[in-house]
Amino acid sequence: MSKYVVALDQGTTSTRCMLFNKRGETAASHQLEHRQICPQSGWVEHDPLEIWRRVEEVIRGAMGKAGVAARDLAAIGVANQRETTLVWNRNTGEPYCNAIVWQDTRTDLICAQLAERGGQDRFRQKTGLPLATYFSAPKIRWMLDAIPGLRRDAETGEALFGTMDSWLIWKLTGGPSPAAAHVTDVTNASRTMLMNLKTLQWDNELLAAFDIPRAMLPAIRPSSDSAFHGLTRADGPFGGEAPICGVLGDQQAATVGQVCFDVGEAKNTYGAGCFMLLNTGVEVVQSKHGLITTVCYQFGGNPPVYALEGSVAIAGALVQWLRDRMQLIDSAADVERLASLVPDNGGLYFVPAFSGLFAPYWRSEARGLIIGLTSFIDRGHFARAALEAAAFQTREVADAMASDSGVPVTALKVDGGMTANDLLMQIQADVLGAPVTRPKVSESTALGAAYAAGLAVGYWSGIEDLRRNWSVDRTWRPSVDDTLRVKNYTMWKKAVSRTFDWIE
Ligand code: G3P
Repeated sequence: MSKYVVALDQGTTSTRCMLFNKRGETAASHQLEHRQICPQSGWVEHDPLEIWRRVEEVIRGAMGKAGVAARDLAAIGVANQRETTLVWNRNTGEPYCNAIVWQDTRTDLICAQLAERGGQDRFRQKTGLPLATYFSAPKIRWMLDAIPGLRRDAETGEALFGTMDSWLIWKLTGGPSPAAAHVTDVTNASRTMLMNLKTLQWDNELLAAFDIPRAMLPAIRPSSDSAFHGLTRADGPFGGEAPICGVLGDQQAATVGQVCFDVGEAKNTYGAGCFMLLNTGVEVVQSKHGLITTVCYQFGGNPPVYALEGSVAIAGALVQWLRDRMQLIDSAADVERLASLVPDNGGLYFVPAFSGLFAPYWRSEARGLIIGLTSFIDRGHFARAALEAAAFQTREVADAMASDSGVPVTALKVDGGMTANDLLMQIQADVLGAPVTRPKVSESTALGAAYAAGLAVGYWSGIEDLRRNWSVDRTWRPSVDDTLRVKNYTMWKKAVSRTFDWIE
């Protein structure tokens, strides 16, 4: 019996490789950051070849730490930042340009033009999504319009589109060799704005509206697939053949890692952004309060399970911005220490609408603001307001979820890098007025990808096996009274209202 399942988690700011045992415990882990390329205001790019090199390094690093070879692996799962759009050449393996990251707003005009007929919700019935710069289809369209010769190559299938999962699987299975797999899974495909949520197929009407050739698109597969998305190559970073049979967008992967398998179960992940997903079962539920509808997972030939999602563009990315661009802190961990120096925000509110605002507003013209400055404010208040921004934005999507489902959020399962920040967790419980629980394995994204892969090959026998692996690390309970909670949240909402209509 193979010892481990391995997960690759290719996120917005870093890439990690983790090995898990049957109990869902981490046997080894290796993680590396990559560059955030911001060539102009509103643009965010990644270098696909740099990310591939990071992937090779983290795989070798984690396998080396655990002292294992490909033959020790039962299966491989991939989780990835969603929507980020790449186009590369099938014959050379060269990307046509940098990947356009999900946070990038350059497609604002394309979205506005498409919304002229039918409004922002023109494609919501089919896709569960509003027309917004966040999703892949407008980004593909931008590339097709901007790069000479790309449309011709796309029509002949020489240029391939993929989100990060497709790119990495194509590389791991030998691309540019003709045998390489060009695939994606239903969860990633559901974020492109080109897949019909019910048929789980690329949709002709959507392809025509965005003017995107079908020949450039990957095949859509289940998230957990015993028929394999592909086999790794012996000359690749795994050094042998192993089946890739779990693929999920990272937020869906975290939902699986948090074992939210029942209707009504939800989790919130604090990564570069912040994403709350609520399992709504096998029915497609359309939101009336600014959430989106997405595929949560599909295991083998079973019907897909859907989720309502509250997507927040900037959470941990704000801490990274304070570190890298503002140089207010030396390391991400410093933000907790600084924020602990003050008892409250001192009246300072920080709305990080760097990519416009996503859920529940979907206002791409919104821009960030810091408001409430007085001479009393110091670095501690800045750090505190940055943490509170993640908590307030989470409260906004939790409110939207309660309105959509008619059930208040009375407890929240959390995960992701920022949950190591105990102060943030306390702030979150205070802002929400509900307990917040962190599981023992807070890397739920990688764990979920491993679960999807392990289920496909029988490493785990079913979801009951996975439920047994989940256990609580710590729970935070609200510690402020309702009057203060309402007052602070009201001020936050007031600050948010001032971010709109900034750009003419
Ligand atoms: O939709 C974007 C999301 O998948 C990014 O996740 O964890 O990299 O912030 P993360």
